[in-house]
Amino acid sequence: MKHFISLNDISEGELRELLDLAQRLKAERKEGRPHPLLKGKTLGMIFTKSSTRTRVSFEAGMYQLGGYPLVMNAGDLQLGRGEPIGDTARVLSRYIDAIMIRTYSQSDVEGLASHGSIPVINGLTDEMHPCQALADLMTLREAKGTLKGVKLAYVGDGNNVAHSLLHACALAGTDIAVATPAAFACKRQYVDEAMAIASRTGAGITITDDPAEAVARADAVYTDTWVSMGMEEEKAERAKAFKGYQVDGKLFALAKPDAIFMHCLPVYRGFEASDDIVDGPASRIFDEAENRLHAQKAVLVKLLGGSGAQCQA
Ligand code: CP
Ligand code: NVA
Repeated sequence: MKHFISLNDISEGELRELLDLAQRLKAERKEGRPHPLLKGKTLGMIFTKSSTRTRVSFEAGMYQLGGYPLVMNAGDLQLGRGEPIGDTARVLSRYIDAIMIRTYSQSDVEGLASHGSIPVINGLTDEMHPCQALADLMTLREAKGTLKGVKLAYVGDGNNVAHSLLHACALAGTDIAVATPAAFACKRQYVDEAMAIASRTGAGITITDDPAEAVARADAVYTDTWVSMGMEEEKAERAKAFKGYQVDGKLFALAKPDAIFMHCLPVYRGFEASDDIVDGPASRIFDEAENRLHAQKAVLVKLLGGSGAQCQA
């Protein structure tokens, strides 16, 4: 694993290793056992969009691993004044050990990786959010004890989070049913990629515009904002288009009796999910947020730690 840009690029074995390492790092942290596996390493983080969880969990995670995080707001870099991404990648590769970037265009992330000589991590683009999906699989596995044969229903916008969940579930052998309005469906490319992975792992993939069909007998019901970063001007139009796609008590009742509710956060109560579901007993949203820390530490150790990934097993 040279980069962590898309879950379409990693193998089932690498996914298993990441999840197991994340679980081990979580247990060690709970037991108060330090794990300075990245002593002296520096992670640079570029943000052209807002963030609470990604920024703070990567920053805290690097400190916990004995390394240093460096936050760079794109507007303060020459990148924001037009310096090419390729030159930025070459320069940063001379100073630091890895880059995490949150931005609009997937091709900027790929450009950093192809022009630089250090690992690149995708901290969200318009197309994907692989760090989130990794933490989500970890949360689902903790809740259900397994990922194989479990069904996750995603209801709402066919966005970056949905695309990465398609890849993640396909890779993990988890059945996924995605319900979106037809005009806001997941991009065909990502559905096809997930189907190609699923043909190896046996995961079931259902794409529909019917939330009830997706949620029926699900073990987990997942939703995300209807208005992703950069789409603020479409807020009113989207609120109309997604009517009927709210995860409320009536929809959630179609899932299995022990189903969990999931959301990447930030959540807009009363829009994509009702308050009683977001704050109800089935909600695992803060476990997902916590697991971002552990899952990303596993990614960092795999990319930067060499044999250190094994040394404290
Ligand atoms: N879920 C997520 O990525 O949160 P932030 O936007 O706060 O980083
Ligand atoms: N789909 C959302 C996820 C935020 C973490 C967005 O892109 O804004």
